[in-house]
Amino acid sequence: MTHPTANPISLPLDARPQTLALDAGLSIHPVTRSIQPDISMSVNHMVRPGEGAFSAAGLGDIAEEPYTYARWLNPTVRALEQRMAALEGAEDALASATGVAAIAAVFLSFLKAGDHLVISDVTYAGAAELARSILPDFGIEVTAVNLSRPEELRAALRPNTRLVHCESPCNPILRLTDLAEIAQIAHAAGALVSVDSTLATPVSTRPLALGVDLVVHSLTKFINGHGDALGGITCGRRDLIARMRGRAGVYLGAALSASNAWLILRGIDTLFPRMRQINETAARLAVALEAHPAVERVIWPGLASHPQHALAQRQMEFAGGVIAFRTKDPQAMARQLAAKMRVAHYAFSLGHQRSIVTLLDTEEMIGGTYHLTGAALEDYRRFAGAGVFRLSVGLEAAEDLIADLDQALSA
Ligand SMILES: Cc1ncc(COP(=O)(O)O)c(C=O)c1O
Repeated sequence: MTHPTANPISLPLDARPQTLALDAGLSIHPVTRSIQPDISMSVNHMVRPGEGAFSAAGLGDIAEEPYTYARWLNPTVRALEQRMAALEGAEDALASATGVAAIAAVFLSFLKAGDHLVISDVTYAGAAELARSILPDFGIEVTAVNLSRPEELRAALRPNTRLVHCESPCNPILRLTDLAEIAQIAHAAGALVSVDSTLATPVSTRPLALGVDLVVHSLTKFINGHGDALGGITCGRRDLIARMRGRAGVYLGAALSASNAWLILRGIDTLFPRMRQINETAARLAVALEAHPAVERVIWPGLASHPQHALAQRQMEFAGGVIAFRTKDPQAMARQLAAKMRVAHYAFSLGHQRSIVTLLDTEEMIGGTYHLTGAALEDYRRFAGAGVFRLSVGLEAAEDLIADLDQALSA
């Protein structure tokens, strides 16, 4: 799967993911023999007359295609695609400008008017709003169910269900989905399964090995890990990724920039040690928060108190770097934390080197994004109460973070 013009380094066939994180997709420059990946900023490339295609319909096997124009394929972006494919155990991958562009690319590539999508009723807000507010305008039927309950998927499936989209752990309540079971049920009904694995990262979970068809990541988060580049990716079977590249990759136009691909490749170099460190700190923080008098509940898949702890142990090698916790009067606590925290930052987003806390207010999430009612609303409230603080753990010393949150949470 390496481009014919590249001079790939030859990795042992049994190289472990931590090694692939450094070397997959890396090729040695034929002239300079530089070891660090080079960045190719060129939008276009010299072609021989007749080489390349003007229409995506003419796009052949990507491994054989010459580089022509960067929206189709760029060498630095391709190196990132190869590295992410290797980390997910995928045949191929398609990079996108953002995580949301990757999710949109999945929807645009595998759904058309008259098709039915089943999506988890709690996902990253952008995915929920795209699926539930915009896809129906294009004649796509959408049903949102709690995919942590496989019986809800069974009940939602229709003859025209083409795709089941889940997120595990889901943002912001860290509810898990049993990916192997969902894949089995969806496949029996002839539907594909995509999962947003942004919060898990490939360090923790390998969804394709569990039977999922497409794995989506916001590379903006832990995978780049430094809060300085937006990016997204979808990994999967060669034929599925080829369909995506020929449709959404070319026509959605949300191509990843070479400079962001280069930054993200550099971020991935340290993904494994970063995630190990973050996970270790998260484990200590989760325990400290559970013992804090101002904290009513902590949700972290690594805690025995997580309602799906057994599934977490089966499906996740690490419980991840995001912790959700609840306090009394969350709005007042949000103001208090923003004013008092000196190590962690009150800000949006997650997965960066610095710890970040933000409040996801339940009324706002339900009214603006999820539109849950009945049992689904009750279930959300069981996790989130009036609002849930999302703590994205960074690389600061665990002791400093624990002391900072202790003082910031205390009146
Ligand atoms: C789970 C998840 N998926 C996707 C996204 C969207 O990523 P991006 O901001 O790169 O579009 C986010 C952003 O917060 C997220 O948390």
